[in-house]
Amino acid sequence: MHLSRRRLLYGSAGVAVATMAGCSTDGESSSLSGFTGIAMPTQTSDRWVIEGGFLEQQLQEAGYKTILQYGDDDPELQITQIRSMVDQGVEFLIIGAIDNRSLGEILATAKNRGVTIISYDRLILDTPDVDYYASFDNYEVGVLQAKHILDRLGVQEEGVEGPFNIELFSGSLDDSNSQYFFQGALDTLERYTYSGVIAIPSNETEQEVTSTERWSGAVAMDRMTRLLEDHYEDRELHAVLAPYDGISRGVVYALEDFGLAPGTDEFPVVTGQDAEALSVQFIRDEKGQSQTVFKDTRDLAAVASGMVKSIVNGNDPEVNDLGTYNNGFKFVPSYLLQPVNIDQSNWEEELVGSEYLTVEDVDNAVEPQEF
Ligand code: BGC
Repeated sequence: MHLSRRRLLYGSAGVAVATMAGCSTDGESSSLSGFTGIAMPTQTSDRWVIEGGFLEQQLQEAGYKTILQYGDDDPELQITQIRSMVDQGVEFLIIGAIDNRSLGEILATAKNRGVTIISYDRLILDTPDVDYYASFDNYEVGVLQAKHILDRLGVQEEGVEGPFNIELFSGSLDDSNSQYFFQGALDTLERYTYSGVIAIPSNETEQEVTSTERWSGAVAMDRMTRLLEDHYEDRELHAVLAPYDGISRGVVYALEDFGLAPGTDEFPVVTGQDAEALSVQFIRDEKGQSQTVFKDTRDLAAVASGMVKSIVNGNDPEVNDLGTYNNGFKFVPSYLLQPVNIDQSNWEEELVGSEYLTVEDVDNAVEPQEF
C-alpha cells in the first residue's frame, strides 16, 4: 500500500501547494546548498511515511541533498539520528519530534553550526533554537472532533436533555499537539458538560489521565477496556473522543470485544484524525469509527520544503502566524494549514477527489499497528 500510494502522491506534487512561492524580502541567493536532514518520528502511521518521502522528493527535485530517518518512536534514537545528520554537515533540519522536550541539547549543537531548524507538525519545546514551525491549526482539529460528536448525538437539537455518556482520549503527553487537540475539543464540549447534557461517567477528564503514550492504539485499547469494565456494565456509552485514527481503532476493537456491534445504534460515535486508509474504510463501511480529520500532509511537506528553498534563495520564509505557538522561549514563527472534517458524506470527494487516497487504498488497507 505504501509504495503505490507514495508514488501517487509524488505524481500530484505539482498541485500540492504553491504557498511558499511568494517571498517576503529581497534576498540575494545564499551560499547554502540546501543540504537537509529530515527526522520523522515513526513508520507505524501512514502519514509520517508519506511525508518523509514527500519531503525528500521535494527537496531533491530542487537539487538539494537529503538524509531521511525515522526514529521508531524512540526519543534517544531520534537524538542519535539528528546528531549524525549534524555531523554530516546538514544546513537544515526538518524535525517531526518524538519527545518534544528532549531535543534541546542536540539543537543547541546544531544551531552553533549554523543549522536552520524547522519544527515539523509538532512544536519542539523548551529551546530557543527552533527557527520555524510548519503545522496545522491543531486547536481546530479538536473542535472538529467534538462537533462531530455533538452533531451525531443531536445534542444541539431542541428539547434534547441527555445525559449522553462520553469518554475522552488524548494523545501522547510528550507531543505538544496533544494539548491543542484536547483543548479544542474540551472547549467545544464545555457548555454541554456544564449543563449536564453530556456526562463523563469515568470522571477522567484531565489531559494526563486521558493521555495515550506514544499515540499507541494498543494502549488506548487497554484503557477503553478498563473504562468499559469499570463504568459501562449497566450503562450505555454514546461517544468516544479519540484524537488519532490509530487510537480510534484501538477504541473500536475494545468496544467490539465488549460485545458492541459496529453499525448498530448501540455502538458509540468514535472520532479520529489523519485520514488513515483503514480508518477511512471503517468510516465508509460503518465499522465503528465515523469521523476523521484530514490534514493534507502533501501541503505541509510543501510548506516545510518551501521554507528551506526560500532561505537557500536568500529570502525569508513565508509565515502566517506569529502569536499562537509559544515553545517556552518564544512564539515560533509559524505557517499553519487548515484541517478538514471527514465523515461518510465527504470522504470520497475530499480524499479520493484530491488524490490523497485511492479507493483501492481504502479497500485494501490493513492494520499497520500491533494490538
Ligand atoms: C500529529 C497527528 C498524529 C499524531 C500521531 C500528532 O503530532 O499532529 O496528525 O495523529 O501525532 O502520529
